[in-house]
Amino acid sequence: MKPFDVYPLLDINIQHGAGSYVWDKNGRRYLDFYGGHAVISIGHSHPYFLERIKKQLDKIAFYSNSVENELREELAEKIGQLSGYPDYGLFLINSGAEAIENALKLASFKNGRTKVASFQRGFHGRTAAAVNITDNEKITAQINKGFENVLLPWNDLVAATELISKGDVCAVVIEGVQGIGGMHVPIPEFLQVLRKLCDQYGTILILDEIQSGYGRTGKFFAHQYANIKPDLITVAKGMGNGFPVGGVLISPEFEARHGLLGSTFGGTHLACAAGLAVVEVIAKEGLLENAKQRGEQLKNTLLKYPEIVEYRGMGCMIGLEMPFPIKGFRKLLIEKFGVFTGASSQANTLRILPPLSISASEVEEFIAAFDACLSTFKKQNNHEAVSF
Ligand SMILES: Cc1ncc(COP(=O)(O)O)c(C=O)c1O
Repeated sequence: MKPFDVYPLLDINIQHGAGSYVWDKNGRRYLDFYGGHAVISIGHSHPYFLERIKKQLDKIAFYSNSVENELREELAEKIGQLSGYPDYGLFLINSGAEAIENALKLASFKNGRTKVASFQRGFHGRTAAAVNITDNEKITAQINKGFENVLLPWNDLVAATELISKGDVCAVVIEGVQGIGGMHVPIPEFLQVLRKLCDQYGTILILDEIQSGYGRTGKFFAHQYANIKPDLITVAKGMGNGFPVGGVLISPEFEARHGLLGSTFGGTHLACAAGLAVVEVIAKEGLLENAKQRGEQLKNTLLKYPEIVEYRGMGCMIGLEMPFPIKGFRKLLIEKFGVFTGASSQANTLRILPPLSISASEVEEFIAAFDACLSTFKKQNNHEAVSF
């Protein structure tokens, strides 16, 4: 048997990681400005993270959710404190898409409706309901189209008001910052109006913070820049720093009942130990503040490049809009300069997602590589072809 061939692969075989770096099987070192797909929050193989998981493994990795688990209580308590949502509930699963599935289920249980509004360019996962509210026909199968989804234009108050005021929308799902769609930030007023409309028309506001949450933008959640509180918040990626953990933060308006939601693996002892290590390190090492400062450092330096058409995002979640498709540039950055970055659904956007623990000197190392790569790329493609 072979792995089902669904991923286009780089010719690189990563063997180990430490902090902001990973090493391939030939011992070559790479600076990880992709955070292993926006997943690495506290740095690769953080010693405290490893120690907590190993100690837990020596005790027990898993027991069913039918017994008490004080690690789960502790994780909910610590996330509540750190995120500023101490009165919300936490439901644990294993991935981002599962978080979206459960959030939509909760919304529909609450108001009995089925129509969901989401946004153009948005991405929410590949499972049954999550893919139906994702703006990508190519990855949506017929079986996924079981309920009506309306894709609203980004930051468009008029379109959102027109739709939600009909009074039949179950939920509005919006990313804190659009990630795969090219790092687009919602204007604070837009989120504030969505909050008001949802209150007025009995619609559930779901903030998808799977990529933009867990400190990536410099606040625990990106929507906190707009001073709003969603009804449901989905999290995953950085939550486990590579260990598969996902969650839904649930406002006190929702009443739990036994059997309402459930998962075999969600919130196991081992997953909670990983999740606890992450929140403890974020708090102890001041990683929210670090993400903000390193973001400022990147912004102040990169804005000096006339080649960058637009700088989008916040903190350690950045989109660089280049005047050319970034495919070749990104490949050169990895192969010649040993730096990982990401792509997006927008061909000209380079996606930058370093660990929140990135240091000032590692940012400088990135800028030096970016600079050298840009010169090489320009020479290779000659100025006219690239049309700066
Ligand atoms: C904003 C957002 N939502 C949901 C998902 C789906 O998460 P997962 O791949 O863990 O299912 C992703 C994954 O990239 C994402 O970026």
